[in-house]
Amino acid sequence: MNRTQLRGLWHLRKAGEKPREERMPRHVAIIMDGNGRWAKKHRLNVSRGHRQGTETLREIIRHTDDLGIEALSLYAFSTENWNRPAEEVAALMQLILDFFASEIDELDEKNVRILILGDKSALPEQQRAVLQEAEERTGKNTGLRLNIAINYGGRAELARAAAEIAALARDGKLKPEEVSEQTVADHLYTRGQPDVDLLIRTSGEMRLSNFLLYQNAYAEFIFPEVLWPDFTVAEYDRCLAAFGRRDRRYGGR
Ligand code: IPE
Ligand code: IPE
Ligand code: MG
Repeated sequence: MNRTQLRGLWHLRKAGEKPREERMPRHVAIIMDGNGRWAKKHRLNVSRGHRQGTETLREIIRHTDDLGIEALSLYAFSTENWNRPAEEVAALMQLILDFFASEIDELDEKNVRILILGDKSALPEQQRAVLQEAEERTGKNTGLRLNIAINYGGRAELARAAAEIAALARDGKLKPEEVSEQTVADHLYTRGQPDVDLLIRTSGEMRLSNFLLYQNAYAEFIFPEVLWPDFTVAEYDRCLAAFGRRDRRYGGR
């Protein structure tokens, strides 16, 4: 029985039911949005919102790992987020250090392989070193592929891929007419990983904000209203169940 026939046998499931494995996404991407509004709602400083957001992050990573999903990509800091007040940027940079200090042992123990998407060279020295170390330490792990986008922009990623491919052509290692979709995919940060199957953006905003432009080409989008610090494992399960009920057609009949 082929994939399409199998799909025909899949039945609708009631909300709240546990996601079934055969309809699980291989790659989930999350735009963790709403920390600022959460802080405002609770009359707290915005950095408290971001800190609360890292609590959600821990739970969601754990659950993704428990479910055996292959890859999880998280949008933590965009190339546009430098435009925020210096104090907020500093708080986010501090959270990067705190997050890795508290999580790296457990993640490594769980065989999670960490990859940073984005240009690390523009980050402060300390953050760069911590991220580099996390990637190196977990580089040979074979479990969940945890991609964390920091100083990431989808257009910047594509421009970088184009530059790498142009350099190969210049050096005679590749002919321009040989450049395929696969060539482009092979020069993205996510090379070797499946495309995004499910994109979740919390807080009710319905836009990509420059996240994984190439990889999201055929992703299913879900936009829960809940703010990221209030996002729960139960809500995540509902998203996964909803994904399982989507009819993915890829342009076919
Ligand atoms: C998302 O929360 C986290 C980052 C961008 C780092 P926001 O800070 O964007 O939250 P809102 O959109 O202001 O509520
Ligand atoms: C996208 O959220 C970036 C991250 C979640 C890290 P933003 O809150 O920065 O995006 P816009 O400005 O609403 O598009
Ligand atoms: Mg936002």
